[in-house]
Amino acid sequence: MSLISIRLIRFHNPLLSLLISSTQPKLKTFSSIPLIRVAATLTTKASSSLSAEPKMVKAIRVHELGGPQVLKWEDVEIGEPKEGEVRVRNKAIGLNFIDVYFRKGVYKAPSLPFTPGMEAVGIVTAVGAGLTGRQVGDLVAYAGQPMGSYAEEQILPASKVVPVPSSIDPVIAASVMLKGMTAQFLLRRCFKVERGHTILVHAAAGGVGSLLCQWGNALGATVIGTVSNKEKAAQAKEDGCHHIIIYTEEDFVTSVNEITSGNGVEVVYDSVGKDTFEGSLACLKVRGYMVSFGQSSGSPDPVPLSSLAAKSLFLTRPSLMQYVVTRDELLEAAGELFTTIASGVLKVRVNHTYPLSEAAKAHEDLEARKTSGSVVLIP
Ligand SMILES: NC(=O)c1ccc[n+]([C@@H]2O[C@H](COP(=O)([O-])OP(=O)(O)OC[C@H]3O[C@@H](n4cnc5c(N)ncnc54)[C@H](OP(=O)(O)O)[C@@H]3O)[C@@H](O)[C@H]2O)c1
Repeated sequence: MSLISIRLIRFHNPLLSLLISSTQPKLKTFSSIPLIRVAATLTTKASSSLSAEPKMVKAIRVHELGGPQVLKWEDVEIGEPKEGEVRVRNKAIGLNFIDVYFRKGVYKAPSLPFTPGMEAVGIVTAVGAGLTGRQVGDLVAYAGQPMGSYAEEQILPASKVVPVPSSIDPVIAASVMLKGMTAQFLLRRCFKVERGHTILVHAAAGGVGSLLCQWGNALGATVIGTVSNKEKAAQAKEDGCHHIIIYTEEDFVTSVNEITSGNGVEVVYDSVGKDTFEGSLACLKVRGYMVSFGQSSGSPDPVPLSSLAAKSLFLTRPSLMQYVVTRDELLEAAGELFTTIASGVLKVRVNHTYPLSEAAKAHEDLEARKTSGSVVLIP
C-alpha cells in the first residue's frame, strides 16, 4: 500500500475528527471496551506442535552501532512461543526516539545483532502451551520490553501485551502505546497536572509532545509549548497550546517569564535535554517540578544540587518502564489511554508512515527534526 493511501485511511477514521474537549472525560473502565478477535486463516495450533521447517520472517537488524544506515532488512528465524508467550504478526509498529538511542549506543542493547523497536500492534498467531486468556486471532498491543518490534512477527511474553479495543484503529494504537502511556504517567502520576497549573512542554509538536499538550489542556492547565518552526507551531496551537514559543528564534526563558508575568511554571516536561535543561530550570516557579524525560539533543550536563536550592525545586528523571512495572499498572495506563482516545480528548496524529523495510529513512527524518506527531512503520 502506498504511503498516501495509508495516510488517507488514517485521517478518515472518525475518531480523529472528534473535537478536543476542554474538560476531563468520563472514563469507561478498560474491561467494558469491546475487543477485537480476528477469525481468520491463522494457525490455531498451539506451539507445542512439532514444526519441521524453521519459520523465517523479515526484520530490521543492527549488527553495528551507528547512523540510520546500520538498520538492515534481513531474514531472521522465529521460533514457536514457549509457556507464557505469544507469537504476534505485527500490523503496525511505532517509531520512538528511544530506538535512535539504542541504534547509536546511547542506551546499550543486550546483544549484537539486535532487532530494534519497542512498540507494536498485531494479531496473535500462536500461543504457548498452557496459556489461558490469550487466543489466536486476538488483536494486541505492547510497548517497552522486550525490544524487537521492527519485525513482521515477534514473540512476546503474554504478560506484556494488552488487548486493543475495537474502537481504536490498529495503526493509531501502534503509534500511541509507548508515547501515550508516557503522556499518561507524566501528566497523571509523575507530576499531577490540575486545573490552574501552567505547564511548559518542549518539542510540543513531537510524538509525545502533541499528546502532552492535548491532555494537559484537557486537564485544565495553561499549556506553553516550544517548537522549532512555524508549521510545528500551527500544529501545537491545534493541539491546545495556549502559548507557543519558537525556541530556535526566541529565548524561551525570556518568553516564559513574560507569559507568566515572572511567576514561572509549575512543571516543565523536558525531553530535549542538553539544549534546554538549564533554561527549563530557570522557567520554574518556587517548588516547581523539573521532569527531564528524554535527551533528543543530547544528555544534559551534570546538575549541581545547588542549582535546585535557590527555588527548592524537585528534579526527576522518570522512565515509562518504572511506571508500568506490574500488570495492574500496565492495564491501568493502557486503559486510561485508550478510553481517552475513544472519548475524543486525544486526537492522535499519525503524520508519517513508512514501510518497515525503510526504517532507516524514518530514523533519518526523526533525527533531522523533519517529523511531527507520531511515525509508524508498516510491515
Ligand atoms: N522517559 C520515558 O519514559 C520516555 C518515553 C517516551 C519518549 N521519551 C522521550 O521523549 C522524547 C520525544 O520522543 P518522540 O519519540 O515523541 O520524538 P519526537 O518528539 O517526535 O521527536 C523529537 C523532537 O525533539 C525536538 N528536538 C530538539 N532538539 C533536537 C535535536 N537536536 N535532534 C532531534 N530532535 C530535537 C524536535 O522537535 P522540534 O523540531 O520542535 O525542536 C524533534 O521533532 C525523546 O527524547 C524520548 O527519548 C521518554
